[in-house]
Amino acid sequence: MTALTQLSQAIHDAPRWHQADQFQNPADIQIVPLTGEALGAEVYGLDAKKAQAGETIYRLKQALAEHLILIFKQQSLDDLQYLAFASYFGSIFRPSADTPVLATQKETGTPPDVVPVSNAVGQGDYTGHGELTPHADHQWTPLPSFGSLLYAIELPQDGGQTSWYNTIKAYDALDDATKQHIDQLQLITYNPFVRIAQNKVQDPSAGYGVFPRYRFKDQPIVGDAYAHPLVRVHPESGRKALWLSTHNEVELVNYDDQAGSELIAQLREHLLKPEFRYEHQWSTGDIVFWDNQVTLHSRRPFPSEQRRLLKRISLAGGRPF
Ligand code: OGA
Ligand code: MN
Repeated sequence: MTALTQLSQAIHDAPRWHQADQFQNPADIQIVPLTGEALGAEVYGLDAKKAQAGETIYRLKQALAEHLILIFKQQSLDDLQYLAFASYFGSIFRPSADTPVLATQKETGTPPDVVPVSNAVGQGDYTGHGELTPHADHQWTPLPSFGSLLYAIELPQDGGQTSWYNTIKAYDALDDATKQHIDQLQLITYNPFVRIAQNKVQDPSAGYGVFPRYRFKDQPIVGDAYAHPLVRVHPESGRKALWLSTHNEVELVNYDDQAGSELIAQLREHLLKPEFRYEHQWSTGDIVFWDNQVTLHSRRPFPSEQRRLLKRISLAGGRPF
């Protein structure tokens, strides 16, 4: 028998319904919306190691579409158990080797299915300890992930909180004229990992280097460009959301440079309003599962000498519409 891949092994090993002590009783699960927050619900009484009932996964999918992020408390999983749980909700995001993303490996041209997000040198220190500005994962790819999960293993004493932004609320709060104006616009978000690689070639000590926020037509194009709608429709709820990261290099298609950069700057300022944002204070054992189609997320910096390790699984999504 040939060796199984990690994902096949995960599903092979996962508990099944007939194992009574490994079956999650749906009646034990409570989904509690966060009060007074822009988005989010906490899920109690669910052990993600266990086999889940169909009605449970359906309920969680509906809750995700409604609350945009789900927070599972007090989990204790190895990578295989984590993969088995995450893949109830869809296929693992596996970009092709022509599109670099966070944690792309030199040997394969793709990221691992479980990405360590850490500041420990050589152990998944892709994002270091600095601030991460509000973004949607993989927005610059042809087929961005529909959602991701982050599982907190080790946390710093100070900082490192992650915020999520409700971009449906942000869209809804725009005035009608702006909505009408932007509804049919297409946006290119340039791949920051191409820019990072290029900066490193030019100057190995450059770190992340400088990113323009908007590309004017006389500026070089960095990497392949994939236009997606600026206003996205959620595939299940039908709600519209503003799909724009706040700091990446972007460009509106068929739009005047100056006017486009001003419009994008205005929308970005709007997105950053506190009423659209929920800041998560992590506890170890938390898993946050977010809908990447209708949220942004960001991270506060934390001291470099304090360790932080989360594990991320991203799920494949369809072409944005
Ligand atoms: C990510 C990410 C935020 C964090 O892994 O996609 O944005 O809090 N992480 O580390
Ligand atoms: Mn991210």
